[in-house]
Amino acid sequence: MGAVAALAGVFLLPGCLWLDGPQSSFVPEGPVARAQLSLFYLTCWVTLVIFIIVGSVLAYAMIKFRAKTDADLRAEPPPQGHGNFMVEVSLIGASIFSLVIIAIPTLHGIWYTYDVPAEEKASAYEVTATGYQWWFKFDYPSENAQVPDATGKLVSAPLSTGNELVIPAGRPVHVNLRSVDVIHSFWIPKLAGKVDMVPNRANFLWIEADKPGYFWGQCAEFCGESHAVMRFRVIALSPRDFNDWLTSQMAPARRLAEPTAEQLAQPRATLASYKTFTHNEGGYTDRFRFDGSPLEEWRKQQLPEPNEDPVLVSKGRALFVAKTCSSCHTIRGDGALGVQGPELTHVASRTTIAGGLLENDRDELHRWIHNPGDVKPGNKMWVNGYVKNDIKLTPEDEDALVAYLRSLK
Ligand code: CUA
Repeated sequence: MGAVAALAGVFLLPGCLWLDGPQSSFVPEGPVARAQLSLFYLTCWVTLVIFIIVGSVLAYAMIKFRAKTDADLRAEPPPQGHGNFMVEVSLIGASIFSLVIIAIPTLHGIWYTYDVPAEEKASAYEVTATGYQWWFKFDYPSENAQVPDATGKLVSAPLSTGNELVIPAGRPVHVNLRSVDVIHSFWIPKLAGKVDMVPNRANFLWIEADKPGYFWGQCAEFCGESHAVMRFRVIALSPRDFNDWLTSQMAPARRLAEPTAEQLAQPRATLASYKTFTHNEGGYTDRFRFDGSPLEEWRKQQLPEPNEDPVLVSKGRALFVAKTCSSCHTIRGDGALGVQGPELTHVASRTTIAGGLLENDRDELHRWIHNPGDVKPGNKMWVNGYVKNDIKLTPEDEDALVAYLRSLK
């Protein structure tokens, strides 16, 4: 099987740059994706052999028995044969044989990719991925964060993030798949997939990344108008980095010192200027693609912003509640406890926003909160939030909200 895959590797596809994208399943980086790829190659080879045999016989017959003279064209058809026991039996036998060649490894693959192998189960890490129209929520059932409830009492809730699944590298991860609305499909081409997320049904799959890395994922089943832009990322970290990440994520929202009277009294600088975007403009650069060093870029994203303005941040925090953002988003420690939208306690440490569609930088964040409906058609924040509640943001409001959200590392 390895030899077949290797041969296929030489003749068929990878290595060719045009198949080596961030979502290419031809360059697997984990055991599950590798098993799926070798099965794909095996199927290709069996069908290629059949194609060559059938094609050659056809070509041979067409050339050998073609009409060579004018007399051939007018000749009666030769005597017709009906049924040849040996030919029929061998064709049936050959078909069954090639199906068995495909079926045995297919069954093996189904069992293998179904769940973490028994011998590794004890060391497996567990996460829950939930599909929403149109973004992914990731819960960590074994990590309990403390969240103040309406009365200020601390209650424990599993750690939760949006758009980005951070996992330990080199360790199997059992992923529970859930959906709150329609059927989505969970797919990380370089690691594993696809498995449907079905409402009221508990599906799962397992993934493992060979080494630390940054991977692109995508919803793979039509689920409504923004299906095509329902993306996510998987960040695999070394065990130590993963633990550091967990520690920082468990902490409540980062707080800057409250602005002093002197800072408040200072005349405000002119509004920060933001880039304007054309409709449908791509929301990402090559920073987080495979050909750079996306993991290094991810690490940079964890560091606090330079030159944070405590006045704007504090104003943004108040606006987040006043403009009712807090009724859909949770920011632990800042009084926001909504659960309909992504958890935002450490949103600025993520590399993407808007369901993995936009890179999480200042301009893109501004573009997103300025007019979410323009970026991602039909999204709930726009339809059920901005439009229904008639939420209007002035440029000053947007500036403060951007500064606040950027401070949440
Ligand atoms: Cu979710 Cu397509």
